[in-house]
This record gives sequence, C-alpha cells and structure tokens, in this order.
Amino acid sequence: MKALRNTWYVAAWDFEVEPGRILARRLLDEALILYRDERGGPLAAADRCPHRLAPLSAGRLEGGALRCMYHGLLFDSAGRCIDVPGQEHISPNLKLKTYPVAERDRLIWIWMGDAALADPALIPDAHWLAAPDWRAKPGYIHYDRANYVTIMDNLLDFSHLGFVHENTLGGGRVSAEVKPQIERFEWGLRISRLYSNTPLAPYLKGLAKFDGPVDRWQIYDWRVAGNLLSMDFGSAPAGVGALEGARPPEALVFHTVQALTPETEGSTHYFWAAANGFELDNPTVTEEIHRQTAIAFAEDKFIIQAQQAVIDEHPHERMTGIAADAGLQQGRAILGRLLQAEAEREAAA
Ligand code: FES
Ligand SMILES: [Fe+2]
Repeated sequence: MKALRNTWYVAAWDFEVEPGRILARRLLDEALILYRDERGGPLAAADRCPHRLAPLSAGRLEGGALRCMYHGLLFDSAGRCIDVPGQEHISPNLKLKTYPVAERDRLIWIWMGDAALADPALIPDAHWLAAPDWRAKPGYIHYDRANYVTIMDNLLDFSHLGFVHENTLGGGRVSAEVKPQIERFEWGLRISRLYSNTPLAPYLKGLAKFDGPVDRWQIYDWRVAGNLLSMDFGSAPAGVGALEGARPPEALVFHTVQALTPETEGSTHYFWAAANGFELDNPTVTEEIHRQTAIAFAEDKFIIQAQQAVIDEHPHERMTGIAADAGLQQGRAILGRLLQAEAEREAAA
C-alpha cells in the first residue's frame, strides 16, 4: 500500500541526530537529511543541493548552516542560500526543500505532506518514552523487505503470538482463542485482549516475583498518525483483579511504543521501545525486557519478510479471511479511506 503524506511520522530517535552531524535517511521514498540548528533544534531537508543536485549528506555543518561540499553553497536553517562563493547576488530560487519537524518524547517527528497542514498538536502521544514513572530503552529494526502495511497487519492481529512467539511472548492457542474487543475511532483502533488464568509468558519468567498462573492484558491503540501503536500490557497473579484494572505492586506493567515509517514502498523503518513501569530503580529490568522483546520482534521480522516475498511473487493471488483478521481489515479500511481522500484532494489541487 502507498503511504499517507499528510501525517506525522517518526523520522529518527533523538540521539540519532547528533549535534554537528548530518544523518542521511530515506523516508516515504525521499532521500532526506536530518540535522540540528545552532540551538539544537532538529531540521530536515531533501538530500539534494538545488545547484547541481549533489547530495547534501556529503556536506558539512557550519554552526547551524549547511554547506554543500561540491561548489560550496551555504544554506541557513530556513533553507535559504546565504553564500555562493564567487558570486554576490543570490537568487531566491536557490532554496533547500525543507520539511516541518518536531522533537517530542525522545523522537524526531517529520511531516512530508502539505507543510501548511503540519499541526504539531496532531503528533501522537508517546510520553512513556520519556516520563519519570517509566523506563524505556530505544529500539530499531530495519525491514529491508516489507511494505509497512504487512507489518501493521501483524500488529493488529495478535493471534500469531502462540505460534510465531511460541517460546518468547508465548500464549499458546489461547492467544488465538481470546476474542479481542475492537473499537473504531477517527484516529484509528483500540484493541483489547484479556487472558484470565493463563501461564506466564516464557520471556517474563526471569522478571516475575510470583509463581503460578496470571491474568494478562494487552490493550493497545493503533493510530494512523505515525502508524503508531501504543500498548498498555502486562501480567499479574491470577484473580487479583488485573483484568478489571487493578495493578498490584508485584504486577509486571509495561507500555510499548511502536512506530512504522515507510522507507520505500518495499522497506520500512520500525522504531520501538517496551517501557517498564515497575522496579524503576533497577536498570537490568529495562535491559532484559529490551533484549527479550528484540528477540520476539526478530521472530516477527522473519515471518513477515518471508510472507512479503511470497506476496511479491504472487501479486494477484487472493488471501482468504478468518475471524482473527477483523482488526487488520478495519485498519486497512481506515487507511484506504484516508489514502483515497488524500488522492482526491491532490487531484483537485
Ligand atoms: S551542487 Fe551543491 S554547490 Fe554545486
Ligand atoms: Fe509478533
């Protein structure tokens, strides 16, 4: 599927855009550079000089200004050319193509559609990455072969947990038997999956301070903005009321943030973190949950990329639906409608 342009996407983790350095990255099939101005604010521009189209990622930063290292043109943080060596008059046409960016919750966000529509209030909430009552370690996966919607399909249908993640996230057949509650909103979907009296997931065994069966919850929002999935999930001893919202002190409480940004039509950036909301003074908990989640997400990558290869080989083959597809079908319907509206607006412009 194509990607929406008039929405915010995660372009990078904050630490990837180091002061004084230029980060080259392809987003929505556009080669970009990300860098910081003199005060540290993030900037984004097309990775091509308006003079002879040399890549600006091979340029250098001079304070907050960017010099193309082919013929030496210098651009200020608004993208205006402020120096042409050997020439006094500077044409206003010598201008970088720049994009609105914002830094929030340890993420750098970018808007690649109509800049006049880039309202920072539309950036989805990801405060779990930065809030004092959560601990999160940034993660990243590059999908070299998957359209972002193939990955989104996986995130909107957890019936795969007991199969793809048999020895990690676990869940067995129950993960497919739990009936998710799916609510539809203007911004996307909320999916709630509650498991009562079930075994603790294999990957949490080292973190739990209790034995026996658990009540397990996965309540998550998928937002069109940023293709961002934000999930409240965890496990507590069975019968203490966790499925009704109780969070006893021994509960293992997490919140993930997972954002998919198309790189090209066939490759995707996947930014993620699984924040823990317990044992805040024990950094090994955060390290361990990060390590275990990375293993589980590599399991997803393996099956999703293999699936994408088959889809690409059989582009006209129909897929056959089952009940578990309800979430992904609704997600695709929302996206499809917005893509169509965007195409119609572009055609009318
Ligand atoms: S191509 Fe950039 S200065 Fe000539
Ligand atoms: Fe998965």
